[in-house]
Amino acid sequence: MFSSQTRYPLKAHLRDLIFLKNFITNPLIEVGEYTYYHDINGPELFERNNVVMPFSVKLKIGKFCQIAQGSKFIMSDANHPMSGFSTFPFFVFGDPIPNYDPKLPPKGDTVIGNDVWLGHHSTVMPRVKIGDGAIVGSFSLVTKDVPPYTIVGGNPAKIIRPRFDESTIQALLEIQWWNWDIEKIIRNVEAIAGADLDRLKQAT
Ligand SMILES: CC(C)(COP(=O)(O)OP(=O)(O)OC[C@H]1O[C@@H](n2cnc3c(N)ncnc32)[C@H](O)[C@@H]1OP(=O)(O)O)[C@@H](O)C(=O)NCCC(=O)NCCS
Repeated sequence: MFSSQTRYPLKAHLRDLIFLKNFITNPLIEVGEYTYYHDINGPELFERNNVVMPFSVKLKIGKFCQIAQGSKFIMSDANHPMSGFSTFPFFVFGDPIPNYDPKLPPKGDTVIGNDVWLGHHSTVMPRVKIGDGAIVGSFSLVTKDVPPYTIVGGNPAKIIRPRFDESTIQALLEIQWWNWDIEKIIRNVEAIAGADLDRLKQAT
């Protein structure tokens, strides 16, 4: 049985892969159990290297996500004012400036569901919501919400295809296997990793 509290769960790859939750210190970043981040250059620096300006809105990542090396999350605080002639962020330096009220784009949380696979060097833009079971292709720039169990790719990321038919997706969203206790998950790994819905429904 593997524990979500293991910091480096992969014996073979030693320290290249971490269960991410155990390395998060910023209260604005929430990561679910068993979500991992892989990076041969040091996955421990995820918060610093991969989340751009997590200062006032949340980055929420669900359970059992697979985050490949170089995946980045650009948060709302990374925006500059765009309605005036200059985008220079005068407001971040020194004391407040009189008669200067920059109009910033709206802010919002970034939300990644459960069992989402983020491909190598994919980037998620501010306020984007990615549904459970989605897949983001490598080197994609996700600018819009991604429906559950949908594969997207490209820059800007477009839908490549849904992973299953609509009724199967609805059933998977109701089952939410990722919320089962880990003993039940391990007992039913074949059903979870398989594609036989009846078998998954009968899991005990
Ligand atoms: C997105 C992905 C899952 C699709 O897999 P697939 O369905 O087997 O892909 P296919 O090769 O059949 O391609 C299907 C279509 O998606 C396009 N596509 C595939 N990957 C893409 C990507 N990363 N960005 C943009 N488009 C992509 C293909 O060009 C093809 O388009 P077409 O139908 O117009 O010809 C896969 O290409 C990918 O990017 N995997 C991530 C790998 C990775 O980063 N691993 C990290 C280590 S775990």
